[in-house]
Amino acid sequence: MSSKLDLLKSKQAEALQGGGEKRIDSQHAKGKLTARERVKLLLDEGTFEEIGMLATHRSSNFGLEKQQFLGDGVITGYGKVHGRPVYVFSQDFTVFGGSLAEIHAKKIVRIMDLALQNGIPLIGLNDSGGARIQEGVVSLGGYADIFYRNTLASGVIPQISAIMGPCAGGAVYSPALTDFIYMVQASSFMFVTGPNVVKTVTHEEVTSEELGGASTHSEKSGVAHFSVENDLKCINDIKKLLSYLPQNCEEESPKYHYDPIDDEWREELNSIIPDNPNTPYDIKDVIRSVVDPGSFYEVQENYAQNIVCGFAFLQGKSIGIVANQPAFLAGVLDIDSSNKAGRFVRFCDSFNIPLLVLEDVPGFLPGTDQEWNGIISNGAKLLYAFCEATVPRITVITRKAYGGAYDVMNSKHIGADMNYAWPSAEIAVMGAKGAAEIIFKKEIDEAADPVAKHAEKEAEYAELFANPYNAAKHGFIDEVIEPGQTRQKLIRAFDMLKNKVAHLPKKKHGNIPL
Ligand code: HXC
Repeated sequence: MSSKLDLLKSKQAEALQGGGEKRIDSQHAKGKLTARERVKLLLDEGTFEEIGMLATHRSSNFGLEKQQFLGDGVITGYGKVHGRPVYVFSQDFTVFGGSLAEIHAKKIVRIMDLALQNGIPLIGLNDSGGARIQEGVVSLGGYADIFYRNTLASGVIPQISAIMGPCAGGAVYSPALTDFIYMVQASSFMFVTGPNVVKTVTHEEVTSEELGGASTHSEKSGVAHFSVENDLKCINDIKKLLSYLPQNCEEESPKYHYDPIDDEWREELNSIIPDNPNTPYDIKDVIRSVVDPGSFYEVQENYAQNIVCGFAFLQGKSIGIVANQPAFLAGVLDIDSSNKAGRFVRFCDSFNIPLLVLEDVPGFLPGTDQEWNGIISNGAKLLYAFCEATVPRITVITRKAYGGAYDVMNSKHIGADMNYAWPSAEIAVMGAKGAAEIIFKKEIDEAADPVAKHAEKEAEYAELFANPYNAAKHGFIDEVIEPGQTRQKLIRAFDMLKNKVAHLPKKKHGNIPL
């Protein structure tokens, strides 16, 4: 027996070596952790159970039979994060550059199936040169097997991808099908075709970093949800994100112990709205004041900053927040912000996370750029996402709620459960200035002093509509509240809504305007 045990131990030791010391050193020299170090950091100590440690490829193409690495370039298994189970795969760049081939893919597919069957989140740590070139078409099949499962698992279990090295070609589509993408600055990139192909086809000169680095995808394309400084931060942030999420679509998010240490009154909110309705303020100050201290975790912080999305806790319970940002483009809705918020709303709804909307929106962004690029169908995505969301939904209108954007931003007409307005709210078809220009055009043109007439008519319109009371009269607003009361109102209302049951009409699936 002892010789058999020795054999087992020597194989395990060999697997732990990955591609060998030299390649591990090279990985460290690039400022990257190894696949095993990442798994160790991610999971609670002593909880990792590895699956497929001794698997190897079975190809003999190009002399591959002489290059056998136990594990075949990916570490797969399960363990716990903060006491809750997760499945994880971690690609090992020290083995064939983490490239994906038949067995490597089978190992990932195996834990995806287990994660889906058991309702447990899946975390993918990607660091790969793409399809293993020596194995050819089986690699492509392997990717497709993964894409298929990503899609089946979508909306059933949370799927989180970390890009911690190269990720190119069709390989980018597995992360893109998951719920959240983290990218590590300077050491990761994602693109469908790399700089060389780009140069050949379009004659553009671009570096990998410019084409698909973390800042590109977190600021320009919106592909990445989080851009993080290094591997350690990446892993720690994934753990943080998991703390807001349930294990699967049948569960609620965990409820954390929260001592109600304060009186829930927020004096600072009573003076947060500037006197001039065109002066910006930072909606994140409102968010931070309303939610449990330090609990706001923003998603896509540097993309489409005119809308703010993120998770927070309210008395220890997870909520998703969507808020117009008056400090950026006046909080206008445009293509990017509609896409960003629409996807976030759908994520929250998939996983039973109640939604809070803070509204200060002057409308949709006008212009040929927006119209020609489809603000109609892109804006409709956000509208659709809210309309079909069945989780508890509360809106607080802090200032402007103009035009179609009033309807879109979680109005009661499209299924919101409670709508509050601050006394500073202006719920109208449009701003008073523009409205006066249109409906009193003739009077203004014919006046002895058109400027004074315009000001008079603007004031008249503002008097009638630049307030929350007309909407409250119609029941569109449930209560006009003092800003300082907001946290208390939200705690009570979300508690009241916690057993909400709402069903959509029976259907195969809807047809969101993609
Ligand atoms: C096999 C690969 C590999 C690959 C890298 N390696 N990529 N082996 N298949 N795709 C191996 C290298 O041979 C090397 O082996 C080790 O990994 C490290 O590679 P280096 O080039 O030394 O590292 P680095 O300089 O950091 O460059 C990393 C890299 C580069 C940018 C990823 O290796 C690269 O460009 N690789 C090819 C990428 C590619 O074209 N992949 C196919 C994309 S098409 P040794 O033994 O020396 O350690 C695709 C289609 C998917 O993926 C479609 C899905 C639908």
